[in-house]
Amino acid sequence: MYVLRTIAVMALTLSASIVLAAGDVEWPINGGAYNIRYSPLTQVNADNVQKLEVAWSYDSHDAFKDSEMQSNPIVVDGMLYVTTPAMKVVALNAATGAEVWKFDPAGGVIAQRHFRQRGVTVYQDRLFVTYRNYLYALDRKTGHPIDSFGVSGKVDLREGLGRPADKLSVSASSPGVIYEDMLILGSTVPETLPGSPGHIRAFDVHTGTLRWIFHTIPWPGEAGYRTWPKNAYTVSGGANAWAGLSVDPVRGMVFAATGSASFDFYGANRVGDNLYANCVLALDARTGKRIWHFQGVRHDVWDLDFPASPSLVTVMRHGKPVDAVAQITKMGTVYVLDRLTGAPLFPIAYQKVPASALDGEKLSKVQAYPVLPRPFARQAFTEDMVTNRTPEAHAAVLAQLRSLDSHGIYTPPSLRGTVLMPGTDGGAEWGGAAYDQASGLLFVNSNEQPWIIRMVTHDTTSLYKNNCASCHGDNREGSPPTFPSLVNIGERRTRAELIAFIREGTGRMPAFDYLEKNVDEIVDYLLTGKDTGVIDPKVARQDPNWLKYRNEGYILFRDPDGYPPLTPPWGTLNAIDLNSGKIRWQIPLGEYPELVAQGVKKTGSDNYGGPVVTASGLVFIAATNFDKKFRAFDKLTGRLLWETTLPAAGNATPSVYEIGGKQYIVIACGGGKNGAASGSSVVAFALPESVPQ
Ligand code: HEC
Repeated sequence: MYVLRTIAVMALTLSASIVLAAGDVEWPINGGAYNIRYSPLTQVNADNVQKLEVAWSYDSHDAFKDSEMQSNPIVVDGMLYVTTPAMKVVALNAATGAEVWKFDPAGGVIAQRHFRQRGVTVYQDRLFVTYRNYLYALDRKTGHPIDSFGVSGKVDLREGLGRPADKLSVSASSPGVIYEDMLILGSTVPETLPGSPGHIRAFDVHTGTLRWIFHTIPWPGEAGYRTWPKNAYTVSGGANAWAGLSVDPVRGMVFAATGSASFDFYGANRVGDNLYANCVLALDARTGKRIWHFQGVRHDVWDLDFPASPSLVTVMRHGKPVDAVAQITKMGTVYVLDRLTGAPLFPIAYQKVPASALDGEKLSKVQAYPVLPRPFARQAFTEDMVTNRTPEAHAAVLAQLRSLDSHGIYTPPSLRGTVLMPGTDGGAEWGGAAYDQASGLLFVNSNEQPWIIRMVTHDTTSLYKNNCASCHGDNREGSPPTFPSLVNIGERRTRAELIAFIREGTGRMPAFDYLEKNVDEIVDYLLTGKDTGVIDPKVARQDPNWLKYRNEGYILFRDPDGYPPLTPPWGTLNAIDLNSGKIRWQIPLGEYPELVAQGVKKTGSDNYGGPVVTASGLVFIAATNFDKKFRAFDKLTGRLLWETTLPAAGNATPSVYEIGGKQYIVIACGGGKNGAASGSSVVAFALPESVPQ
């Protein structure tokens, strides 16, 4: 049934001219079938979109400071499944928004933590969701764990990776995909060391048994093993498909886009190209065997993960349709690869890049630069781009920029400090791209926001500095709001909460359970400021994960008033013609309400969450952090056709479905990004009955 539906949706995506049979139209897969965020529905169109109104809205009332909702709602059999800020799963009536059941994997006990969860996977009578290191199978009717799956309804994702489970930190922020009777899943692992391997796994949907595993950090004898040091397969981490996977059900292929190897910014202990990090991987969905791979960044030391799972598109080449894979990047580029072979469909230039001045770092001599399509984000932050918002902001940013290395992508991390532009959050991010085959247009939103990465010598005798300072700073000051300050944390958190945070991790913070009794010593330090957990530097250096350098923090480069430090646009929406490689249109996306009040409009802003495109030619996207808008654009021109303000920013991808002859467009409104207010509602829009349909 499920597979049939998938193929029906696929057939529709492949031929917009097919008329829909009577019946409901679902959104059964995260990112839509083929991961192209396309809906065949046409009831809402350019003529009536202005009349859209709220059909229903649901509030889970569990938002907290900086909490988010990244979930793309799944709609099957008249039910809608979505995750909430506190990582609960809720089932709603998709026509009314009425709650049917709720499942709380945390059991309601643990403090509010910023785990991220981009939604659920549905297979027949069951639903899969991840929470911390667990994969749960729930009964779709009741929300109760299915006892026959794994151990009491869950599988521990740290097990079966070939290393002691209690030393690993593994979760999954993106839902898995279904192929036949398997759930195929990527993972979220630490970006620091000690790492966990980002292997891709297929689990039996009924029992939770491991059916296959693909080693993204290859084992001896496997292809790619020589692109790492000999022992990497036992100690290295990362190369994980955190943004999810895409399935071609007809060909039986699964596609993954992987992130960097850990540690993100210094790779002296992982000399080599580090396959299969920063790759598009095509695997046989039945066996997990590699069919092809394409590496976008060799030996990444810039955190240039492929941030979204591949979009499975069909493009025109010499008048013929060619099935391809479109991979958007944090660099603000898109690779278009033949789906069967991985061969690039547009030219790629391999250009020389600078060497690193850090001891022991051996960077790749060349990196790939796609010639077409051209980048959709600026490729460096240079002096001519310094903000002119006010003379003071200009002067301050110029002085800071001159103190840093800023030569665009592949500027090596340095002790002086390096500007990452496009930055750690893109270019493109996890919202993914939407594709409309009729026009050949790929829609992708992008950030234009530089980050700063500064390396410091990692010669330390402090447990805190060794494990925590790369994110929370040497003096616990963090880089809020993304990396919170831990100064006076005792006033906000109990000892038990601090221990839970450190042992179990939260959001981008890995779990430090392996520190065992040292966890207590670190908590003592956080509460008293006295570092009792001192370690001998000689002992520290014998650890295979000891590195000479670490980063000083992840710093968002803002002007003194908190705005991006460069001239607008600060965020864009782009339509890229995948047939010709040309950018058809590019518009600023988002505004700062307080700047609009001063007459400074159309600046674009930080944006997270993706677009959808409908057969009627509309592109729907929220994503913008500060104006909380949800907008519809004409797919061919980028003209704004409709906008409304959401209760909190819609940092998620909308879903489009039809029930009882009515088309709905639904979005999770969780906010909470880069200091924006948080929310906990899901809002569905539809046309009022009075509009002729
Ligand atoms: C890779 C980056 C990273 C590392 C390393 C890291 N953290 Fe965190 N930590 C975070 C982030 C990010 C958050 C905020 C939660 C979120 O939004 O994901 C956080 C949150 C916290 C919080 C909760 C703060 C609050 O305001 O409630 C505590 C406590 C904490 N970290 C302690 C530690 C300690 C102690 C260590 C070292 C053992 C550590 N962290 C290492 C990234 C990190």
